[in-house]
Amino acid sequence: MKTITVNASKSYNVIIGEGILDDAGSAMQKVSGGQTAVIVTDSNVDPLYGNRLTGILEKSNYRVVRYVFAHGEASKNPKTFLSLIDFLADEQINRTDAVIALGGGVTGDIAGFAAACYKRGTGFIQIPTTLLAAVDSSIGGKTGVNLDAGKNLLGSFYQPDLVLCDVLLFSTLTEEVFRDGCAEVIKCGIIADRVLFESLKNPVRGQLENVITRCVEIKRDIVAEDEFENSTRKLLNFGHTIGHAIEKLSNYDIPHGHAVAAGMAAETRMAVYMGICDKSCLQDILDMLRRYDLPESFSFNADEIALVCMSDKKRDGKIITMALPAETGKCILKEIPVNELDNLIRSGLETSF
Ligand code: GLY
Repeated sequence: MKTITVNASKSYNVIIGEGILDDAGSAMQKVSGGQTAVIVTDSNVDPLYGNRLTGILEKSNYRVVRYVFAHGEASKNPKTFLSLIDFLADEQINRTDAVIALGGGVTGDIAGFAAACYKRGTGFIQIPTTLLAAVDSSIGGKTGVNLDAGKNLLGSFYQPDLVLCDVLLFSTLTEEVFRDGCAEVIKCGIIADRVLFESLKNPVRGQLENVITRCVEIKRDIVAEDEFENSTRKLLNFGHTIGHAIEKLSNYDIPHGHAVAAGMAAETRMAVYMGICDKSCLQDILDMLRRYDLPESFSFNADEIALVCMSDKKRDGKIITMALPAETGKCILKEIPVNELDNLIRSGLETSF
């Protein structure tokens, strides 16, 4: 078992280990003085772990209530958020009680945003059940929902009180959902750690605890330096400018990690085109995506993608700051004038090197 402390506006532990869900009650008692635990989960995860977590928390004398929403990114909208808020009010939840996100990134984002807003903030615990949530979305406090105009446009930074990452929960993931998380693992290697990147030539499944730990450490360091994404944290967005546009254009049919994989391929091609990295870096990244059977492209064209990028929250007036690889293990931030974006995206999608 490993414990990693994230020092942001709130300090909290990320506990990673096998079978630690069974200790959720005592772990919660250390961070929450409330009487009620609100499990927020989706229709896929609830049948797998809903009753089990309820039983574990009841043994620690919590009153447990459960809010279950329909699985999928399509649920990550203001309607689900407001319905969860109403649920918290109906259940007379207090600020000292804890909202527990039991699920993947969508669940964590909705539950965290409700925890941030209801009575101006309740307790909040993340229990990720996907690799993607374990290595990325459960840490660092980004919460929110999508608007018709774009992804994650309504949200806040709200750090959890605890992240409990039981790696045994990932044994029920389908291959596709597991690979979706591998895209974010690969991203961590590319932005910050060549050794991690190289280690991914061996399957992630065989080194799960170590890989998750390293990704959490990388994110811990970045969040400690720049919690509110004014500078360094933008590095975590590698692959996400084009990736988010792909998700949106597919009406969220394409899962986040798969969209980010194609985004990383396109953004690395942009980096080659701009002289930021060489072709061997692109080749290494494409080889790694292929190793995990992740996509390098989707059929959307540069104009469509550039148009969606214009309403991305990463845009700041006439500039979009993008994280681009200089080599595997190191990304840099590059300010791109929006009037050049279309051409650069075209280079990323269409140039063959
Ligand atoms: N998922 C990127 C971040 O948390 O900043």
